[in-house]
Amino acid sequence: MITTTDLSKVYRTKDRDITALDGVNLHVAQGEMYGVIGQSGAGKSSLIRCVNLLETPTSGSVTVDGRELTALARRGSRGRPKRPTPQLRAARSSIGMVFQHFNLLSSRTVRGNVELPLEILGLTRRERSRKALELLDLVGLADKAGVHPARLSGGQKQRVGIARALAGEPKVLLSDEATSALDPETTRSVLRLLRDLNQQLDLTVLLITHEMDVVKSVCDSAALMRDGRVVESGTVPELLATPGSELARELFPLGGEVGGPERTAVDITFHGDTAAEPVVSRLSRAYDLDVSILGAAMDTAAGKQVGRMRIELPGRYEDNVVPIGYLREQGLQIEVLPATEPAAAPAVSAAAPATGLAPAAGASEPAPEVAK
Ligand SMILES: Nc1ncnc2c1ncn2[C@@H]1O[C@H](COP(=O)(O)OP(=O)(O)OP(=O)(O)O)[C@@H](O)[C@H]1O
Ligand SMILES: [Mg+2]
Repeated sequence: MITTTDLSKVYRTKDRDITALDGVNLHVAQGEMYGVIGQSGAGKSSLIRCVNLLETPTSGSVTVDGRELTALARRGSRGRPKRPTPQLRAARSSIGMVFQHFNLLSSRTVRGNVELPLEILGLTRRERSRKALELLDLVGLADKAGVHPARLSGGQKQRVGIARALAGEPKVLLSDEATSALDPETTRSVLRLLRDLNQQLDLTVLLITHEMDVVKSVCDSAALMRDGRVVESGTVPELLATPGSELARELFPLGGEVGGPERTAVDITFHGDTAAEPVVSRLSRAYDLDVSILGAAMDTAAGKQVGRMRIELPGRYEDNVVPIGYLREQGLQIEVLPATEPAAAPAVSAAAPATGLAPAAGASEPAPEVAK
């Protein structure tokens, strides 16, 4: 549904050029909820603005719903489009955009705000009114049609923003940090709404966030950006099955101090019906091992139960080849952590995530729930 190929964006400022996107290849399938995550300045907003050609890419292409938008845009001088071509404008109407700060007009009522894009689309007053009320109903705000935005809560404002984004009956919704100005409870309800719309309307959603929780609770797929590049991407289950995946580590941070050179620490990822604990106790019985559980997290990602557990076996890796082989045979994904000196930081640490992403606003990491 959305494909970017070798997408680059260089901002030319007076004193220097800033490369915000550096050869981004992204593929978002029809009907997916796709999360893009990354530190501040990684290029997330530039990416989303290039996807709907609010920014003109410096090079590369963007295709949305089978139409190559970059080919429809007529390049103006200094990289800015002079005016969107009628074809580009038509193609853009299949893309809705939701903003972090809502961008509602304070002088208009809620209904008036939702009607705005409908006016631009040339609907009659009656059609506009009917459509706006229908959209407000869809986002649960039918009773607020006549009030002004100043009288709404943040969550309600964002619902208006979403209703407005849906006015052109888009196939794709782009959301740039739509929930980062909201408290955790409101964030959850807005995300639920996006997920419902994604399913009811078969809407493809590309959302930018710096909160891992958002990815975990609603996204089917995710990409991690750093310095203008996509450094990891895939469906959440694929990412979790990728040894060494930074996103998997961020999604399911595992604490637990790794004991030292005479111990072997192993991260186990299990999906759906494979439960880790019986496997661990069987391992312990079969090989007469004292298995320590250093950390565990169970959660739902992309609608499926996923868990991770970090265990430690006595002895070096060489001494544990057979038990580790046993775990692999159980269909579990196994990652052996590199042996470390006791004082050295473990390769994976929940306290110092490798990506250095900002923690979720106002939400400290919950204590990991141990697999039952
Ligand atoms: N209009 C602009 N002119 C010049 N430089 C820009 C412009 N917009 C963004 N940049 C630069 O491009 C880089 C990527 O910025 P971008 O806004 O895409 O990051 P981001 O990942 O969305 O960050 P954040 O999480 O803070 O929103 C940054 O170095 C930023 O300073
Ligand atoms: Mg941004």
